[in-house]
Amino acid sequence: MTTAYDRYLKEILIDEPALRQRIIELGREISRDYADSPALMLICILKGGVMFLTDLMRQIEVPHEIDFLAVSSYGRGARESTGKVRIDMDLRGEVVGKDLLIVEDIIDSGYTLKFVMDVMQARHPNSVKLCTLLDKPSRRTIPIPIHYTGFQIEDKFVFGYGLDLDEKFRNLPFVGVVREEALISE
Ligand code: IMP
Ligand code: MG
Repeated sequence: MTTAYDRYLKEILIDEPALRQRIIELGREISRDYADSPALMLICILKGGVMFLTDLMRQIEVPHEIDFLAVSSYGRGARESTGKVRIDMDLRGEVVGKDLLIVEDIIDSGYTLKFVMDVMQARHPNSVKLCTLLDKPSRRTIPIPIHYTGFQIEDKFVFGYGLDLDEKFRNLPFVGVVREEALISE
C-alpha cells in the first residue's frame, strides 16, 4: 500500500518495538532517580516532544505534573536552527522548588535547549534535567548536558514520532530518515 509519507521515507531508523523498549528503560531509570522527589514536573517541548511525552509518562511511576512549552528558532530556515530562540507559549504552572525534567524530541545544534535550560534555571526550580528521545552529537554547536538519551543518531534529517517534515507526519509511529531527493525535487 502506498501511503502519503512513502515518497519521503528513505528508511525506518527506529521502529515501534525499539522505541517502546527504550522508553520502558528510560521510564525505569527516571522512576528510580526521582523516587524521592516530591515535586517532579515533566516539561514537554512542543510540538515535537508530544508523542515521546505521552509514552514516557506512562512508564514513570513517580507522581508528577506535566506542562508544555512551545519554542521556535528563527533565522536560517525550517530545517536548521540558529542562536535566536523565542517562547511561543509559556508554561501554565509554577516551577519554583520543583524538579523539572525537560522532554524534547531531538537535540541538534543545542541552541533550542540551551535557551530553554537557561530560562528554566532562572525561575528557581529545585533542579533542571534534560531527557531527549534523539541526539545528533555530531551537529552540536553549543555544549549542553543531556541526562537521559533515547538514541544517538547520525547527522540525517529524520521525521515521525513527533518530529515533523514541514509540519507533517508527526503521527508516524516510527522514526524515519528523509529521502533527500524528495526534498530537492519539490
Ligand atoms: P537545535 O536548536 O538545533 O538543537 O534544534 C532542535 C530542534 O530542531 C528540534 O526541537 C527539532 O524541532 C528540530 N530538528 C532538528 N533536527 C531535526 C530532524 O532531523 N528532524 C526534525 N526536526 C529536527
Ligand atoms: Mg522541536
